[in-house]
Amino acid sequence: MNKKLLILLILVCFLFSVSVASAKLVKIGGVACLTGGAATYGASTKNGCLLAFKAVNAEGGVDIGGTKYLINYIFEDDQGSAEVAANAFRKLIDQDEVVAIIGSVMSKCTLAGAPIAQDAGVPVISPTSTNAQVTLTGDYIFRACFIDPFQGAVVANFSYNDLKAKTAAVIFDNGNDYTKGIAEVFRESFEKLGGKVVAYESFTDEDKTTDFSAQLTNIKAANPEVIFLDAYYSAAALEAKQARALGITVPFVGPDGWDSAEFPKLGGEAVEGGHFCTHYSAEDPRPIAQNFVKKYTETYGQTPDALAALAYDAALILIDSLQRAGSTDGAAIRDAIFATNLECVSGQIIFDENRNPIKKAAVLKVENGKFVFVKFVQP
Ligand code: PHE
Repeated sequence: MNKKLLILLILVCFLFSVSVASAKLVKIGGVACLTGGAATYGASTKNGCLLAFKAVNAEGGVDIGGTKYLINYIFEDDQGSAEVAANAFRKLIDQDEVVAIIGSVMSKCTLAGAPIAQDAGVPVISPTSTNAQVTLTGDYIFRACFIDPFQGAVVANFSYNDLKAKTAAVIFDNGNDYTKGIAEVFRESFEKLGGKVVAYESFTDEDKTTDFSAQLTNIKAANPEVIFLDAYYSAAALEAKQARALGITVPFVGPDGWDSAEFPKLGGEAVEGGHFCTHYSAEDPRPIAQNFVKKYTETYGQTPDALAALAYDAALILIDSLQRAGSTDGAAIRDAIFATNLECVSGQIIFDENRNPIKKAAVLKVENGKFVFVKFVQP
């Protein structure tokens, strides 16, 4: 190589490293399950956050009190385990000294990490943890999604009024705060409408259970008109297949846990025609939703699911709050998050007194291996 060119190259590298080193950084933690039976949740969550943060960094960073900060997103895999999640929250807070955390996905994981963040005064926005208890941990804990008392009622209503089912069965994981919570709301709501839950079958630990034949045999004997497969996508797909193999032909309904491109792949024919409740539809015509779908698809080569949309929304909420807080102080960020009024991909975000946004749900249907939009349900 020509000597002059080499010197020029070294100079450029030096200037670049100096400018990078002198740029101010703000650290934001991320927690989600990137491995285990619900790994697509973590991938979507990480991708959704990165899309928002990279866009801000490309513009020179986020303006906090008149200074531009580049966002340093530090991600931890909680493997869908509450214990691992608690350690991840601790590591991000104590070691990395993040100013806020976006996570986790599963309610049981956020419930394990949230008290640690609350004690440390580090704000948390869970994109997707729907269990009602999550934000009740304390005033530093927020979420970007609706809560299960709403979601369970949406599924019950859809089963009774749209599918015209008068009897229903439920199968759920008894050891999971999320599935257990929605099962209760579904039963209560369905019976309030005039329906009857004729079988209420549970098991413990969906990660370890692969044979649902005992529960499904009881459900078959009760002869329900609809079955609520209240589980994350891997278990729900397995339950559907085993139910069909037992000769059960009635329709399935599900919660947001079905929301993964893997679900129709794993469930195949068995999940065709099933309906589930989730947080957003890629067919939402609002410009903010369509721009997001376009950018995400260009970047990652797949249609964003609800987890990607909610992670993106949680990142938007945090960026907007950091700007309004004008400080990286935990209490200032918390107050700014609480005052949010922002249009996001999944809807307008305004927090109620329990730090939950009040938002519409989407009902989607599995059709030819894809999710198609059925309708929005307002709270
Ligand atoms: N709502 C689930 C929980 O609280 C997580 C989830 C959200 C899964 C959205 C899929 C889609 O555990």
